Amino acid sequence: MAYIEIKDLKRAYVMSKDVSVEALRGVSFSVDKGEFISVVGSSGSGKSTLLNILGGLDWEYTGDVIVDGENIKGSDPNFYRRYIVGTIFQQFHLIPSLNVEENILLPYKFSKRKGEDVNQRLEYILKMVGLEDRRKHLPKELSGGQAQRVAIGRALIDSPKIVLADEPTGNLDSKTGDSIISLLEDLNKKEELTIILVTHDQKIAKKTERIITLVDGKNV
Ligand SMILES: Nc1ncnc2c1ncn2[C@@H]1O[C@H](COP(=O)(O)OP(=O)(O)OP(=O)(O)O)[C@@H](O)[C@H]1O
Ligand SMILES: [Mg+2]
Repeated sequence: MAYIEIKDLKRAYVMSKDVSVEALRGVSFSVDKGEFISVVGSSGSGKSTLLNILGGLDWEYTGDVIVDGENIKGSDPNFYRRYIVGTIFQQFHLIPSLNVEENILLPYKFSKRKGEDVNQRLEYILKMVGLEDRRKHLPKELSGGQAQRVAIGRALIDSPKIVLADEPTGNLDSKTGDSIISLLEDLNKKEELTIILVTHDQKIAKKTERIITLVDGKNV
């Protein structure tokens, strides 16, 4: 059985009694453990809608998402969002008043896991994302690429199994974007992460192991 199975996923945004937008109209595919795949498609084809569902941010769908044999509908959303998936976005969504370390550790503020293993994990992550010498910097003192690395660190602090990335290079120049993709490739190998990357950029998509194409809310 595949690690992630997406079956006949449908999502309509109901705007009023007579108007609804069918953003997903039956998406089905599966992903193996440790695969690095991309999802492409034109603007409005449903990519972010799909990622929001996979990330446990939207539960108003029909169809099924099975992760590691379990339907996510049956899981605790908070647990799912912390320990199963980590999500990064085009906008880095860092907290401006917190420094690099504090932003990465943010999920821990709400966690029972405290103490030494936290610091060890932080050191490991800072090294992994290449920000050991920027740990006390505030977001406004970082370049775009560095800010995205902080967001990646924050997504990884709780050791998720799956990383979802929605246009993570969309706000970066192509060289910096490439370095972020290289980092994700590294993580995919070293941490055995399963990665689903949404991108407009065919050049980036081609670097991944497989491309899923969405057209009008369906994969083709
Ligand atoms: N919260 C919402 N309420 C109503 N309609 C929405 C909402 N979010 C998305 N949509 C609609 O659903 C469709 C799919 O949107 P989605 O954001 O998933 O596309 P996308 O593929 O991520 O596009 P882009 O490449 O521009 O980011 C679009 O027609 C959009 O207008
Ligand atoms: Mg989108």
